[in-house]
Amino acid sequence: MNFTYILVNEQVAEHTALIQLNRPKELNALNLELMGEIRDALKALDENEKVRVIIITGNERAFAAGADIKQMSGKGAIDMLKIDQFSTWDQIKKTKKPIIAAVSGFALGGGCELVMHCDCVVASETAQFGQPEIKIGVMPGAGGTQRLPRAVGKALAMEMVLTGEFISAERALQAGLINKIVPVELLMDETIKMAQKMARNSPLALQMAKESVLKSFESSLSEGLSFERKNFYMLFATEDQKEGMAAFIDKREATFKGK
Ligand code: HXC
Repeated sequence: MNFTYILVNEQVAEHTALIQLNRPKELNALNLELMGEIRDALKALDENEKVRVIIITGNERAFAAGADIKQMSGKGAIDMLKIDQFSTWDQIKKTKKPIIAAVSGFALGGGCELVMHCDCVVASETAQFGQPEIKIGVMPGAGGTQRLPRAVGKALAMEMVLTGEFISAERALQAGLINKIVPVELLMDETIKMAQKMARNSPLALQMAKESVLKSFESSLSEGLSFERKNFYMLFATEDQKEGMAAFIDKREATFKGK
């Protein structure tokens, strides 16, 4: 796949693809074109049967420093409405396969929101997370005011959104925004290790498990439980369920085919 603002490796490890944001001079500021490329790459990788898990990363200095302020600065409300950038984000949200963010350096504004669109987050010791939109006269627009309090609780979310201050990887870990912190030079190895632990499982089970966990954010407990139950039953229609359980009983490794 050829893109201008991102690099895509469809097999960075077995069943694992990598999307790297590649606007280093602008700290991976998320212009509309870059976001469109992430959307298109995720769609293609979601449809690629060889891929089970997707990693999104930036570079050592920045995961992404937010939406492209220079691209937005002259726009009015109606321009923003017509551009309708959030339909791109809505598409990204629909990705069925697990996505892991590998974060080093700045993850700010839209960058922090992109992290929160991912399912797990591995961060280096240098990672910093923030929603600094308030400092430029606006506020988060790609889910920050909704996903951040769900991830870190109201108090810290309010502090981050209203002061615009960044938090360290350590604080983000304590608050539950990220899964683990690793030395910067091990970021990709450790993220791939996590991806491989996911990717050795049935892709159908991965997909339905992800869908079910995400459902918990959008439903009552009883609706969520009923949704979970249907997905659980559905997996008994798969060859992977037969294989997984037979392999356990035979004391061997399962070979999942996504069928
Ligand atoms: C456009 C950006 C940018 C951004 C950095 N750059 N962030 N350009 N949009 N969000 C550019 C700078 O203009 C500069 O280009 C180059 O990247 C390096 O940045 P510096 O500021 O020189 O680096 P440094 O001094 O190390 O400061 C790093 C920083 C700072 C703290 C991350 O750049 C910063 O505060 N950036 C903006 C962060 C932010 O407000 N994000 C939220 C955006 S609004 P030049 O050409 O000057 O060298 C948002 C809304 C989301 O995300 C809504 C939904 C999509």
